[in-house]
Amino acid sequence: MSTTAVATPPKALREPPLVRGLPIIGNTLDMARDPAKFFVKCYREYGPAYRIRIMGRTQTVLAGPEAANFLGTREGKDVLRSKEQWEGLVKEYGATKMLNATDGEEHKKLRDIMRRGFSKDSLKGHYKQLIDITNRIFERDWKPGTEKPVVEAMQYLVVEQLGTILTGSAPLEYVKDIRTTILYILNILVTRKHPKVMLKNPKYKKAKARVFELGEKMIAQYHREKEHKKDEERNLIDDIMTANRDHPEIIPDQDLIMTVTGPYVAGLDTVANTTAATLYAVLKHPEVLKQVHAEVDAFFASDFAEEDVMKKLVVTNAAVLESMRLWPIAVAQMRNANRDFEYAGYLVRKDEMVFIGTSVPHFMEEFFPDPYRFDIGRYSKERAEHMQSGAYSPYGRGPHTCLGKTLAEVLLVLTMARIFWKLDLSLESPDYELKTKTTPTPGPAMDFKVRINGFRN
Ligand code: HEM
Repeated sequence: MSTTAVATPPKALREPPLVRGLPIIGNTLDMARDPAKFFVKCYREYGPAYRIRIMGRTQTVLAGPEAANFLGTREGKDVLRSKEQWEGLVKEYGATKMLNATDGEEHKKLRDIMRRGFSKDSLKGHYKQLIDITNRIFERDWKPGTEKPVVEAMQYLVVEQLGTILTGSAPLEYVKDIRTTILYILNILVTRKHPKVMLKNPKYKKAKARVFELGEKMIAQYHREKEHKKDEERNLIDDIMTANRDHPEIIPDQDLIMTVTGPYVAGLDTVANTTAATLYAVLKHPEVLKQVHAEVDAFFASDFAEEDVMKKLVVTNAAVLESMRLWPIAVAQMRNANRDFEYAGYLVRKDEMVFIGTSVPHFMEEFFPDPYRFDIGRYSKERAEHMQSGAYSPYGRGPHTCLGKTLAEVLLVLTMARIFWKLDLSLESPDYELKTKTTPTPGPAMDFKVRINGFRN
């Protein structure tokens, strides 16, 4: 199969096949139910490129390992852009641009500015602090004898964690506002599942004003502290503010609020959904829970070095990796075509919106035998199923691959390790099956609860 993108495709080229659907609503219901499964089914039936109809719009899907790899190729970077996907958010904040919504040279420059601050380097020296936050939250909010809705609890946890890394303190009084703002923005401006008129809702307007207030406080804090900060204490906010001073053409004043509060948007649902899915999967599999307990009990029994986290928490990490395979936060990446191009022998038209179904291989027998089974052995050195070309992309692919990946990896493993070490949890019943949501981001449903039986440590 050729995925070569040609500038002027031959005239005779046809558009990808149109997936069968219901009259008028097309494939809207399939997408609302389970987009990951739907993309896999279509890939099997129609091949690596097809078109679907959602809410009256026809959209092209490029799916499978070919599509995942295509994002990272020169042709892929050349013919696909991200700009439109987050444009609504940029306008809503009165900004000129944001990292996810820039392409080419401009995107590279922004990424370079933020690379260090978004990497695991920014966690150096903070591991113990992250654990303390987790402990404090468990003791404060996770009461033995009660049931806890997990996704919301994890959202609170991640905001405290990110706030501490970025500003030295958790913006507790803003957590609700951050959650509300992100919910509205994702549903209305990014996935466009809800009408724009909802932006007039006073609840949203108030929350958004509070997020702006938080951004202003973060900037004011930077100005107060900049003189006394040692080089090794610099964080993402310092790097953004320095770039604003030295290169205002890259980060102008009007982009500051969105840029400094951006990590909350990037980290809230991604980390909360993934940790919630991991919690479900491990509790559902008692043999895995036993292995995780043995690992985390040994790990926290003595003082640990920061570099040991990823080296020693191997079982916990495998459980996280397997949960990201089965419940990917980004089922597909959304792009637009820069020009007409040929893909797999089909025509993709200029400016058309294109889904890149990078999660399709997660559910392919060819890569992951018995793909719907939770199996942490897949990540062992011997099997390494996720290392096959194009097979595994929880953090996306190509130029926009998650910039927070290394930070997220540590955050996820450390958080899960501490949860299993600290708390004795169980599902509502052993035969409980996880319900999922697709909006604003795919993941466990908001009403997924665990029972808190007590503290293990
Ligand atoms: C479970 C955890 C996470 C997952 C699965 C995840 C996944 C992703 C994916 C799939 C993308 C690519 C989107 C696209 O191509 O359109 C992305 C981008 C990004 N992520 Fe993450 N993410 C996670 C956590 C985080 C965290 C904790 C941060 C930082 C606080 C972060 C920062 C970013 C940034 C800045 C981008 C934009 C990169 C760019 O456009 O160049 N992510 N993430």
